[in-house]
Amino acid sequence: MTLLRLDGVCKRLGTAAVLDGLSLAVERGEIYGLLGPNGSGKSTALNVVCGLLAPDAGTAQMPGPAAAPGSPSRIGLCAQQPALYRDLRPAEHLDFHARIQGLRAPQRARRVAEVMALFGLPPYAHRTAAQLSGGWQQRLHMACAVVHGPELLILDEPTSAVDLEARHALWALIETLRAGGMTILLTTHHLDEAERLCDRVGILQRGRLVAEGTLAALRARVPAKAIALVRGDDEAALRQRAESLGWPTRTYAGELACLMPEETTLRDVVQAFEGLAVRSATLQPVGLEHAYLEVLQAA
Ligand SMILES: Nc1ncnc2c1ncn2[C@@H]1O[C@H](COP(=O)(O)OP(=O)(O)OP(=O)(O)O)[C@@H](O)[C@H]1O
Ligand SMILES: [Mg+2]
Repeated sequence: MTLLRLDGVCKRLGTAAVLDGLSLAVERGEIYGLLGPNGSGKSTALNVVCGLLAPDAGTAQMPGPAAAPGSPSRIGLCAQQPALYRDLRPAEHLDFHARIQGLRAPQRARRVAEVMALFGLPPYAHRTAAQLSGGWQQRLHMACAVVHGPELLILDEPTSAVDLEARHALWALIETLRAGGMTILLTTHHLDEAERLCDRVGILQRGRLVAEGTLAALRARVPAKAIALVRGDDEAALRQRAESLGWPTRTYAGELACLMPEETTLRDVVQAFEGLAVRSATLQPVGLEHAYLEVLQAA
């Protein structure tokens, strides 16, 4: 069942057409990842979804009964830049956001306590936001977005500024929220994050969706059984050899990538380049990263 539908959304900011006919649907209960290069319009799309920006054309709608006036929003937004109050403690932040959302006293106190516990905040209850580490600030930022119990949680690059352990902790929280019935729309530049969390992914370029699907469907867009990354002294010669063997080639992060048409072994890859100076070779399964590059390089 569709929870959010964008239909032909266009948005011009300054002289730029930032969203150019964006259409997508997020299904209830899924984690949908919106990917795309810097400036492709991800945050602008999320702002339109939240009603912070009005589209010039098209619509962003959540089917179903609209929230009654004064009742909490059906959406929780965790914006790209954390907006915390330096001198407020975690429960004070949560209470403030719950108040803005119109939660009344007994329910508000209950939700604040529930969300404090869910996000593991009680040991930090006495610290102000300024006294929390970056990872815990991001956690609190996310907690503020869910205190009113939204149906749709929007996370704009939720882990971009945190260390690896904090990232894993945030992933676990996101999975817990989804298991509790929340639908999640997130953006990220970390393709491992999208691969770990998302049921479906949409790839945005210049304000348009250029690919969309499950992780498996996107990986299937790469015409390869595996990817061989090969480095050597003479890249042109390596590329020529690969192509003479019928292996399509790409350049991924400045390196020669061979799209292996059949299952193969690293030994076979190295042998295929015999006579040429190979400094390193690795064989990788096809991942979302390869699909992302394939889509963007073709678009
Ligand atoms: N108020 C504005 N006036 C003019 N241009 C704007 C304005 N806000 C955003 N832009 C431009 O719109 C484009 C899309 O921005 P947006 O923030 O939606 O991209 P994004 O995909 O979220 O990028 P990032 O990955 O860097 O967060 C960018 O080129 C940005 O410079
Ligand atoms: Mg952004």
